[in-house]
Amino acid sequence: MSEKPTRKPKRPTFSSGPCAKYPSFDLQNLSSTPFGRSHRSEEGKKKLSLAIDKSKEILELPDDYLLGIVPASDTGAVEMALWNLLGPRPVDVIAFESFGHTWAQDIREELQLEELRVLSAEYGRLPDLSKVKFSSDVVFTWNGTTSGVCVPHGDWIPDNREGLTICDATSAVFAMDIAWDKIDVGTYSWQKVMGGEAAHGMLILSPRAVERVKSYTPEWPLPKIFRLFKNGSFNEALFAGSTINTPSLLCTQDYLESLKWAESIGGLKNLIKRSKNNLEQIEKFVDKRDWISFLAEKPEIRSHTSVCLQLDLKEDKIDKIVQLLAKEDVAYDISSYRAAPPGLRIWCGSTVESKDITILCSWLDWAYQKVR
Ligand SMILES: Cc1ncc(COP(=O)(O)O)c(C=O)c1O
Repeated sequence: MSEKPTRKPKRPTFSSGPCAKYPSFDLQNLSSTPFGRSHRSEEGKKKLSLAIDKSKEILELPDDYLLGIVPASDTGAVEMALWNLLGPRPVDVIAFESFGHTWAQDIREELQLEELRVLSAEYGRLPDLSKVKFSSDVVFTWNGTTSGVCVPHGDWIPDNREGLTICDATSAVFAMDIAWDKIDVGTYSWQKVMGGEAAHGMLILSPRAVERVKSYTPEWPLPKIFRLFKNGSFNEALFAGSTINTPSLLCTQDYLESLKWAESIGGLKNLIKRSKNNLEQIEKFVDKRDWISFLAEKPEIRSHTSVCLQLDLKEDKIDKIVQLLAKEDVAYDISSYRAAPPGLRIWCGSTVESKDITILCSWLDWAYQKVR
């Protein structure tokens, strides 16, 4: 029986969204929020356009890409892309966990596009990416938050593709090296890797995606909240901080502060390094034990943000581990996604400290021995 550890993680927040705040987060950091001011005032606009500019800089987006703040979190951003852009070409959806299947279902049942192929794989696997047709528009998630599987790189996407690539990158941006030149539409939300407050989505458009918006009008009606065009033309102002509806300036300030922290630690390369290092701590732990393994079938596709693990225990015992660790204030929200195979999901994104992961691992040993 392993001893009950004495040290606890400094921050037991290992949820896969909303994710851990950046380590120096303090409510005081939000004091420069322009409370009670209009988001269309000079002050409000300045905050929103700064959030856009700083995100582009830290994400190292190509200069000719646009980024806008949109309603309804990552789901809002993905749906906006699907509803505004899809229709003129067949669509391939790559679905290897819950969210990919959701996008496929919406395209099939809501947009009712008939020329749709779904390339799917079981939890833990990726479909054969060589089968994707790039004469079609391609919809995929960069990192499957619910399966702990990610695409290994963007080399499978050709430079001379005819269709658009629409990538739900919410649990990958700021932690993974995204091949932006292979992505025409990218989406994410603030509460994931940067640990911001939830509410707003981010929509990234390549020049080819902008061209599609300008040259194509969908057959279906689009509610105002989803429209990428205004008075019949592309709504360029949306990508300079003129949001469609009212954003929270408090959430915006919090996001800005998280970006400030990202800059202070050296930007994207160090954000990625921190997340990879977190996974390494778990790999060292898993390698030495035969009762725990990764859900991802191969190391190349193993996520280093949403780390999904399988245990040689029945679901009720895994639940007990999750409850025990939460009760001890060691780890909150680490059970696997409700539609995924039973197991543990430990968020290892950039805001998580590797020391906390190491300490959590020592508690996993203790909790496993206690419930098995
Ligand atoms: C890959 C992926 N897509 C979409 C979503 C939905 O994001 P949101 O709640 O920001 O709309 C999530 C949330 O976990 C996700 O992980």
